[in-house]
Amino acid sequence: MPGPLLDCLHGNIPNTPPVWFMRQAGRYLPEYRALRAEKGGFLDLVYDSEAACEVTLQPIRRFGFDGAILFSDILIVPHAMGQDVRFLAGEGPDLTPRLADAALEDLSARPERFDPVYGTLRLLRRDMPEGVTLLGFAGSPWTVATYMVHGQGSKDQGAARAMAHGQRDRFTALIDAIIESTVNYLIGQIDAGAEAVQVFDSWAGSLPPEEFDAWVIEPTRRIVGALKDARPGTPIIGFPKGAGEKLPRYAERTGVDAIGLDETLDPAWADSVLPDGLPVQGNLDPMLLLAGGDRLDASIVRILDALKRRPHIFNLGHGIDRHTPIPHVERALGVLRDWQRT
Ligand code: CP3
Repeated sequence: MPGPLLDCLHGNIPNTPPVWFMRQAGRYLPEYRALRAEKGGFLDLVYDSEAACEVTLQPIRRFGFDGAILFSDILIVPHAMGQDVRFLAGEGPDLTPRLADAALEDLSARPERFDPVYGTLRLLRRDMPEGVTLLGFAGSPWTVATYMVHGQGSKDQGAARAMAHGQRDRFTALIDAIIESTVNYLIGQIDAGAEAVQVFDSWAGSLPPEEFDAWVIEPTRRIVGALKDARPGTPIIGFPKGAGEKLPRYAERTGVDAIGLDETLDPAWADSVLPDGLPVQGNLDPMLLLAGGDRLDASIVRILDALKRRPHIFNLGHGIDRHTPIPHVERALGVLRDWQRT
């Protein structure tokens, strides 16, 4: 039984849209906070396959989501490419040496760092409830590069954007290296049991059109092509956050099987500009889920109505906020499951 989410990715329109939430495993859940405190750091949790399997399953048990996303992080790729990666409490990720100062050639690759993540997926294949789709993921080359170059998160991705303009050959080599590592990583995830994969492009929105084509569309197209050659039949969801009016071009040129909409997009607009039958995912505002109330219910119904003519996977427009009350998640799922297709 492949499950309704996988069916939807293959183009079927079920009565109630399947649902999962980006960042559905994490700090808004007390059971996550307890295990995280026991294991120490975030990376200790990610590289402990048993613990990561447990964390992946926590939101499935609690809410009955149709998809379980591997518990890991997009910054595992830089770690496997040889950067030191740390997650500092309250400060976010820290990568050294940052590639604004160091050369790619100075890093020594550590591909074995992917192994425990594959171990997590194999455990999940064993323990996953019937009908729940197992999702793997990676960051897009552009988004991963923004962290590798600056060494941290940044407001405007300025260091990577400047390198892309000013040291084009160097930046191209970095993107090529990330593509190669990401393709290997996603093939490894599929072989270990991922039934579909999502490419997170969280910072796609910071690029002007030509740069968007060069660093978002083209690398994603190459990853999709390589995966289609090596592992045909595994759906790929692209999530170009902030793409705005560039969304249809991304959908057409990258060849992704489904596209994630962030919360800034009008779902009716997206429905009107995307290719017929292309599955879409999204796009409830995470801050409305946090706030709750009647406006939450109305927004969910508006999204469901706007996308009812095509395969639609209900999701947030971005990751769930850590302060989201659990009753709001339960309420949202109730509204979704009561919705009638008319
Ligand atoms: O969706 C899921 O539940 C699966 C796990 C997942 C995590 N990160 C776990 C995580 C996924 C899919 C990601 C993706 C990710 N990681 C992205 C792309 C999506 C997005 O949100 O834009 C990005 C940009 C990252 C990089 C990252 N990881 C940052 C900037 C941070 C620090 C900020 C923060 O929220 O703490 C992380 C840490 C992180 N990744 C946590 C979790 C649960 C919090 C770690 C903790 O327990 O302290």
